[in-house]
Amino acid sequence: MALTTLQIVGLALSLILVVFYFMRRAQEGGFPLPPGPPRHPLIGNFFNFPMSNQQETFTLWSQLFGDVVYSNVLGNHFVTINTAEAVEDILTKKAGNSSNRPNMVMAMELVGMGWATLFKQPGAEHREERKLLHTGLSPAGLKVWANMVDSQANKYVRSLIKGCDRDLATEEQVFPDCLDLRSAHVLIFIHSYGEGVFENHGPELLQMNKEGILIFSKTLANFWLVDLIPLLKYVPDWFPGAGFKRYAAKCNRLEQILQTRPFELTQKLHNEGKAGYSMTAQLLEQGADQKRIAIAVATAFQAGYEATYVSVTVFILAMLLYPDVQTKALEEIDNLTHGERIPTVGDRPNLPYIDAICKEIKRWHTIGPLGVPHVTAEEDSYKGMRIPKGSIIQVNVRLIHHDPRNYTDPYVFRPERFLPERPEDMPLDPSLVAFGFGRRMCPGRFLADMTTYSAIVNILTAYTIKPAPGKLVPSGLDYIDGTVSIPKQYDCLLEPRSDKRLQLFKED
Ligand SMILES: *[C@@H]1O[C@H](CO)[C@@H](O)[C@H](O)[C@H]1NC(C)=O
Ligand SMILES: *[C@@H]1O[C@H](CO)[C@@H](O)[C@H](O)[C@H]1NC(C)=O
Ligand SMILES: *[C@@H]1O[C@H](CO)[C@@H](O)[C@H](O)[C@H]1NC(C)=O
Repeated sequence: MALTTLQIVGLALSLILVVFYFMRRAQEGGFPLPPGPPRHPLIGNFFNFPMSNQQETFTLWSQLFGDVVYSNVLGNHFVTINTAEAVEDILTKKAGNSSNRPNMVMAMELVGMGWATLFKQPGAEHREERKLLHTGLSPAGLKVWANMVDSQANKYVRSLIKGCDRDLATEEQVFPDCLDLRSAHVLIFIHSYGEGVFENHGPELLQMNKEGILIFSKTLANFWLVDLIPLLKYVPDWFPGAGFKRYAAKCNRLEQILQTRPFELTQKLHNEGKAGYSMTAQLLEQGADQKRIAIAVATAFQAGYEATYVSVTVFILAMLLYPDVQTKALEEIDNLTHGERIPTVGDRPNLPYIDAICKEIKRWHTIGPLGVPHVTAEEDSYKGMRIPKGSIIQVNVRLIHHDPRNYTDPYVFRPERFLPERPEDMPLDPSLVAFGFGRRMCPGRFLADMTTYSAIVNILTAYTIKPAPGKLVPSGLDYIDGTVSIPKQYDCLLEPRSDKRLQLFKED
């Protein structure tokens, strides 16, 4: 059989690659890699690396290979972390070497999502933007926002009353139609840009933000060949199969606007004294760099909305599935207020059961099942295993949140687990892994938590959550997975507790 020239060249190339591969292996030395699924030479786990439902496969791998698992696709190192302890050691204690982000060609370069603080590589810009976000979102910075959070949650229930009051016993009160979560979005808006900006440019900016969130989910939920073969980014847009480039070009235009437009509108109104108080106003007054303010605040605005929406949806579902928990929550609120007033952010220390519910919401439904990947900037080792430089590190957050060693009956919604009799029995706070890790932890976590608490006490002051008439109660927590996991829609009834209670929400 005669070989064609192309076959000979191909064979020669393969041989060179194999030799090169073994030479590199020989040089590497040191600790062995963490255990993981068997790899082929050169292509590694190309055929068994999960391209969808990654979290499920990673959970299976954790059962087979342990707490830290290694895989390799075409020379790219992947390390999956399955315990809070390993997160602490690798991503927190050594954050200096493990806080890079992967350079995803599709998402960052072509779609243009790389502007956001969330995706930026460490460096001066990233450091500065995080500093600004901390100013506006740390617990101390949030003190001035407590009243605002309260009043937005009041408004939220008011909109439910208006929206659902038509005929109390009909389906009109059934989720999701009447559970309009607009006000969660409004709160993030006003916190970011101010009430005046909301009045003048609300619809435009909210619409833009929603489109941005769609691009985020769609881009990150899909697997793009160009991420593995970056040269593909040079194919012309009209080329057959280059649909990804046309999609990217369309998104890229919006990504440009997302970083600049809200800030420009705010700055203009701010100069005219019409913007109202906001994180942007606060940072402008401190004289921070304008470009950095624009980007830091735009990142918070994007990231903030979905988190609150998901928490409230999960809360209502939990009340539907666990009526005993709801009874206890209602009782705790009534013990404090006797139905005479609406609890505020300041009441939280006196509502430990509600506080435990907030923790359990984060644990029971993991909003980011695998977090956002980190990349190591230097070689590292963990418990005698080598973590190569450039490893893409993914944390199986959902698995950590449901580890039976730390949470008994992990799939049951049980706030009591966070109210142990002996303080030493307190399980791991789910927030420690729910909001990212080490230097990449989400600075907005305190605001998200405050908003969730506030939505809960406001809803439970007005309503009891019940099954929708004629509809099946969902069999459990069902979700659509992506970078952000969103509970599937379900039906429920919000039954007013009494007219007197609804009166508390009347505008004064
Ligand atoms: C980062 O890695 C280098 C080289 O391995 C090491 O000397 C340094 O101590 C590491 N830094 C941190 C913060 O772990
Ligand atoms: C409410 O108060 C009653 C009477 O003091 C007490 O028995 C009950 O445990 C309290 N309930 C909650 C959930 O705090
Ligand atoms: C979780 O459980 C493991 C195994 O029992 C234990 O080693 C670890 O300390 C626990 N973590 C926390 C934060 O409780």
